Amino acid sequence: MITIIGNQKGGVGKSTLTVLAANYLTIAMEWPATIIDMDYQQSISQKFEKAKVLENEEPYQVTPATLDSYPILKNVLARDPKHAILIDLPGKLDDDGLIPVFLSADLVICPFAYDEFTFESTVLFAVVLRKVNPKAELVFVPNRIKATAKFETMGEVNAQLSKFGRIMPAIADRVDFQRITTFYTPVSIAPVVQPVFEEIFSAHLWNK
Ligand SMILES: Nc1ncnc2c1ncn2[C@@H]1O[C@H](COP(=O)(O)OP(=O)(O)O)[C@@H](O)[C@H]1O
Ligand SMILES: [Mg+2]
Repeated sequence: MITIIGNQKGGVGKSTLTVLAANYLTIAMEWPATIIDMDYQQSISQKFEKAKVLENEEPYQVTPATLDSYPILKNVLARDPKHAILIDLPGKLDDDGLIPVFLSADLVICPFAYDEFTFESTVLFAVVLRKVNPKAELVFVPNRIKATAKFETMGEVNAQLSKFGRIMPAIADRVDFQRITTFYTPVSIAPVVQPVFEEIFSAHLWNK
């Protein structure tokens, strides 16, 4: 089962949600998962290597990949259809090499925030994805939501994005998100994100 986490916009929480999803699947649900880090900045791989020095056994592997190495890596990992492959995508979508990655996805998680610039990038991402892969399920996760967010804006944005996929419950902007590692989700965050991942993954994994 291949899940890609993407949006053109940087800073919306792609890498954060990728790690949280892997932690949820492996630590909370004891489900096998691997992160493929395709972000050019390789932020998850760096986090993973640092944490490995301090912790014991890692709950899952994090593998950096380029557009060239992806097809072979995918073939190896996807041999077990139960194995959850989570791909942290780069922010830039202008590379044709991304087409096979989009095409291989069963599920697409698109984090976004309720501001004008993020909205444009989010719609663009959804349009490109739909064009390349009309079959993948697309879910939108509102992230870093502040208490001051305007209710009307949220309603309008949700109405537009619902044309492409389902909108998940929103995740608040919280300082404890800085403490997430590839080995551990802080206990204060787990109850906030678990219902979101339960809703996202139940239809694709254990309920099948
Ligand atoms: N819900 C949240 N609350 C607070 N900070 C968050 C939240 N989600 C992500 N962040 C922070 O926002 C920054 C950007 O997130 P990141 O996952 O790196 O975005 P992207 O991969 O889309 O560029 C990081 O410092 C991350 O810790
Ligand atoms: Mg990132």
